[in-house]
Amino acid sequence: MKEKSSKITIAIDGYSSTGKSTVAKQIAKALGYVYVDTGAMYRAVTYYALQNGLFAQDKLNREKLIASLQHIHLKFIFNAEKGFGEMYLNGLNIENEIRSMYVSNHVSEVATVKEVRSYLVKLQREMGKDKGVIMDGRDIGSVVFPDAELKVFLTADAKIRAERRWLELTQKGENPNLDEIYQNVVERDHIDSSREESPLTKTSDAIAIDVTHINKEQQFQKIYELAMERIQNKKATQG
Ligand code: DC
Repeated sequence: MKEKSSKITIAIDGYSSTGKSTVAKQIAKALGYVYVDTGAMYRAVTYYALQNGLFAQDKLNREKLIASLQHIHLKFIFNAEKGFGEMYLNGLNIENEIRSMYVSNHVSEVATVKEVRSYLVKLQREMGKDKGVIMDGRDIGSVVFPDAELKVFLTADAKIRAERRWLELTQKGENPNLDEIYQNVVERDHIDSSREESPLTKTSDAIAIDVTHINKEQQFQKIYELAMERIQNKKATQG
């Protein structure tokens, strides 16, 4: 008889720059799980829209984008050196391009488009269908995997998040402006939380963690312990 898997689904949602992807990658490595960065998928669609002139004077042509979805093929390809899957758009590695401020400044609008969301949610469900997955985003616990065994919702003070993002970009050799990053963080919080389609919300069964005053190691420990507890629970119920 086939042994039942004790693998679970882990949803990490929360505000931008709360360290979701860093912690999710660490947990994936520790548990041998697949990590899926859903923000990268929204960023890749945004990059496509920018590259193909679908923004005119910063205004998105929604109809054209919806019609173009059939030409947008996204794939994560694991980079063993980096330890995570990099984003490929139509066969091209765009992992660096999608992290630019240019993409950050346009992604929230793309993420409000219902058809874009259903296109990406379908891909995300497919990627997580075998469990043993940790996915980070805004709607993972609420829409993509409402039955996830562990849901975590991360929050932190906006100023601290902007400072962390500034440091990250500076370490990458960019020359970011802290005020611009702060404005981007606040604006994205607003659009992500108030949009009609799958707004960012904490579901009642998600565990909220405020990371304003804790470091990355403590953040990892907390979530790792929660994950182990849920895995043990699943094993126990399987008998
Ligand atoms: O996590 P991130 O900052 O890379 O996400 C980029 C944008 O994509 C973010 O402003 C909101 C959107 N997003 C979303 O709407 N739903 C998700 N599941 C992931 C990201």
